[in-house]
Amino acid sequence: MSRPTGPDRSQERSGPWAAPERPAGLSARLPDFPWDRLAPAKARAAAHPDGLVDLSMGTPVDPVPPLVRAALAEASDAPGYPLTAGSPQLRAAISDWVSRSCGVADGFEVLPTIGSKEFVAWLPTLLGLGPGDVVVIPSVCYPTYEVGARLAGATVVRSDSLLSVGPAPVKLVWVNSPANPTGKVLPPEHLRKVVDWARERGAVVASDECYLPLPWDSSPVSILSVCDGDLSGVLAVHSLSKRSNLAGYRAGFVAGDPALVRELLAVRKHAGMIVPAPVQAAMIAALGDEAHAEEQRERYRRRRELLREALTAAGFTIEHSEAGLYLWCTRGEDGWATVDWLAERGILVAPGDFYGPAGSRYVRVALTASDERVDAAVTRLAK
Ligand SMILES: Cc1ncc(COP(=O)(O)O)c(C=O)c1O
Repeated sequence: MSRPTGPDRSQERSGPWAAPERPAGLSARLPDFPWDRLAPAKARAAAHPDGLVDLSMGTPVDPVPPLVRAALAEASDAPGYPLTAGSPQLRAAISDWVSRSCGVADGFEVLPTIGSKEFVAWLPTLLGLGPGDVVVIPSVCYPTYEVGARLAGATVVRSDSLLSVGPAPVKLVWVNSPANPTGKVLPPEHLRKVVDWARERGAVVASDECYLPLPWDSSPVSILSVCDGDLSGVLAVHSLSKRSNLAGYRAGFVAGDPALVRELLAVRKHAGMIVPAPVQAAMIAALGDEAHAEEQRERYRRRRELLREALTAAGFTIEHSEAGLYLWCTRGEDGWATVDWLAERGILVAPGDFYGPAGSRYVRVALTASDERVDAAVTRLAK
């Protein structure tokens, strides 16, 4: 298959989004939208007689829990502006969940976000970062960490070892455990070292913990649990997209250093970064219920087991993947060759280079397909 090297902008040249002639705006700072490069493999996989098995994007496919839908509907008569800080009930629900799930009793402030992607993309800007400031991100990671730094005009350094960063004026360090795409879990000692390192330099540590509710072969911990009660400069970023199938609602939150969270709130109030009132009500219902989260976890556990065995039997090596929503695999070849091999079998996955140059010999397999589609993938891999 021919390998596309740039984004397919063919659809933008006509119609309302005609873009190529416009002067370079902020988007010129951003990387190409990588998913466009997957279109040819997707077309090929979709031509399979039994249809496409799409394991490329980590987008939930299971139902929104009924109690969450009921709470959303119940709150739909919402004529007034909601609170940017979240309703008192939502703030209490987030705090309770953080206390239960993040191993920290008190001393933290919370703030709802419109999903966690917007927070990741705007955190450097909200912190006032700009040209000359350095943002450290994992070597292979969720692309929006880089996007956020570039939106602010800051410089990105990819590194998993802070010792190798040198004396650069680092302002923000992102960690992500369990990680997307690798499923790697950072041990508590590592997280603690990151906090100490950042404090010595006056940098903020943002820990993206949106996959914390999906532990498999190891037990991930929140960064909030390793700080011995001193949360200065530390933020934990969470999402209900995967835990509660709420990606369509846009529901996330941040918890951590009270002074820092209050500063973020002050900016977000002016910027209108407000979670809609019905979604706030839905979040309260979701955070107060563990039964649906456990049910969803079990769905993913089954799919993970089946895919892991099938991929291993088909000759793949799976690395990390101890927790979270993905299997990080290699066939010892360029990741795009693996994308093609799987597309031939009607299975679409994401090439590892979407997540950084160090991922180029891997693919990321998401667990987010229905049981029926996962079973179809397993059958195809066995042939
Ligand atoms: C590591 C990571 N962080 C944040 C997000 C954003 O999630 P959301 O905006 O749905 O909360 C994702 C989504 O896949 C992710 O993988």
